[in-house]
Amino acid sequence: MQSEVSYLGIIVRVIGSKLFVDISEDLLSSTPIIRGKLYKVGQIGSFVKVPLGSLNVYGIVTMVGSNPIATVMEDSSFPYGRRWLEIQLIGESIGLQGFQRGVSIYPTIDDEVHIVTDKDLKEIHATDSPSAVSIGTLASSDSLPAYIDVDKLLSRHGAIIGSTGSGKSNTVTSILRSLTSGLFPKSKIILIDPHSEYHTALKDYSKVFSIDDITNPLKIPFWGLSYNELALVLFDKKQAADTAQDISIQEKILEHKFGICDKLKSGSIAKEAVTIDSPIPFNLKKVWYDLYVEENATVDEKQDIRTAAYIKDGSDNDIIGSWENLVPPQFKAPGTSTLSPFIYKTNKILTSYLNKLQGKLKDNRLSFLFDVDDFDGETLDIEDLLGSWLNHDKPITVLDLGGVPFEIMDMVVGLISKILFESSFWGRYIPGFGRQRPILMVFEEAHSYLPRGGSSATVTGYASRSVRRICKEGRKYGIGALVVSQRPSDLDETILSQCGTFIALRLSNTQDQGIINAALPDNLGSISELLPSLRTGEAIIVGEAVKIPSRVRLPLIEPRPDSGDPEPSKAWKDVSVENPQFNKAIEFWRKQKVEKT
Ligand SMILES: Nc1ncnc2c1ncn2[C@@H]1O[C@H](COP(=O)(O)OP(=O)(O)OP(=O)(O)O)[C@@H](O)[C@H]1O
Ligand SMILES: [Mg+2]
Repeated sequence: MQSEVSYLGIIVRVIGSKLFVDISEDLLSSTPIIRGKLYKVGQIGSFVKVPLGSLNVYGIVTMVGSNPIATVMEDSSFPYGRRWLEIQLIGESIGLQGFQRGVSIYPTIDDEVHIVTDKDLKEIHATDSPSAVSIGTLASSDSLPAYIDVDKLLSRHGAIIGSTGSGKSNTVTSILRSLTSGLFPKSKIILIDPHSEYHTALKDYSKVFSIDDITNPLKIPFWGLSYNELALVLFDKKQAADTAQDISIQEKILEHKFGICDKLKSGSIAKEAVTIDSPIPFNLKKVWYDLYVEENATVDEKQDIRTAAYIKDGSDNDIIGSWENLVPPQFKAPGTSTLSPFIYKTNKILTSYLNKLQGKLKDNRLSFLFDVDDFDGETLDIEDLLGSWLNHDKPITVLDLGGVPFEIMDMVVGLISKILFESSFWGRYIPGFGRQRPILMVFEEAHSYLPRGGSSATVTGYASRSVRRICKEGRKYGIGALVVSQRPSDLDETILSQCGTFIALRLSNTQDQGIINAALPDNLGSISELLPSLRTGEAIIVGEAVKIPSRVRLPLIEPRPDSGDPEPSKAWKDVSVENPQFNKAIEFWRKQKVEKT
């Protein structure tokens, strides 16, 4: 065997699952050629093989050196000048059985160690699993495909991490395309896209919902929020304690919910079962209008709102305003204390709340949340929202949150996650839904709404709470999460700890590398030291969805996600538009609405 070209050396020391190999002096070159292919000996993260009869034990190179080295110096088996390898054992193959993680028989001193050739690599990575999908090639051999296991990725969740520009968005596109274009055309993936990057990259595979789109507008009915969450958006309230104003508003909202609960399209609900936080539609514009009337009306009969005293217009009609357009009614000035019209409500406490509410309802940036009059429970209900997201002929649904104001991004992602999780939870036995047709949710730019510790100065932790639930319990109800982030050390630790698979691209920050280090199994910590030197589009994949930790090269996908860097070197050479329409920029700013030209 020593005569084989793949012979590397012999084992001189074994500590637990760690081996030290004395590299043969006969190996003259560190780049031997085996069957016409050039191999590089001692690449960190590469594999070696220890043949033991019909058993082959495999290990990963974690350290390379040549004496003198402090730890090995004491060992007389490493005289000065010898080259050595440190190997971490990872698995074995017996006879014709394929590769398996774990080692049943440990090699010992004087056993031979061989270079792993492409033929062996093929055996290690080969899979006949119906849930395996090829996502790229092994970095060590571009003729060998790298597989991930979809079932494990979805049920044990995953994270794609890497510094900015390391290729995360390209990886997302590549993986989603591999999943949906080949083996799994019926997959259901919801992609949260905060920077409107995926319109073109996933064009043929997805239906995109965006705020300004006329055909597929993104609508997320506000009434899915609990009262406290809603108050946070509407009144910028930070604490949950209810004031007298909150109680008045809650009473009015409940009144509206009671009015619809027995007429709901998705099935009627008894009044007794309705609470202020039940996800039952109500019309917030009408709530504003009703409260406005009660707060400001003058009345002909004391204490009787039905006798509201409106001012008349030129055609002798009452000026009653309009709830749809948020135009307030106009009331006659009050008389003296004994003469009508009388002031209906003397203790006016809601004025500033109603002003804020009107302001939010008029805010164009929030229209996807509040301008949802069709979602009244009778015309449209949550079932229609789910239907539009999940029941179309494309496998991917992109929810483009590009126009969502930063300060409510957390709330919106939380609400989307809550709607999907709760529906999967309660609908878990319904054919074609829940466990029977699982959903993978992909959270791009997750650090901006899933911060470490659950909340931060700008984020209230609403999304973290919903996504944590998906990560902890989603497996049972058929909903999985894939979080994508450039700063794993800024990500919610519960969510990260629930991720069973890590796809780590180039990472330069040591804190971020530590996160991957902690996730690496089998004492393969030293592999994380490769992270800063990975090429763009190259990743180390570890965890449940791969057989063994692998260094993988992902293909560059065309058309690319819309995340390329600006190119001053091109743009500054010649000016294609001499006079840009600056007025449009100002107009859109004032309207708080971008129109594509
Ligand atoms: N697999 C790849 N092979 C070659 N080049 C790549 C690959 N993936 C990405 N790139 C290059 O890197 C650039 C940035 O990629 P990408 O937008 O995916 O990075 P990112 O990690 O998502 O960045 P950000 O954190 O800013 O969102 C791309 O425009 C492309 O030129
Ligand atoms: Mg990106």
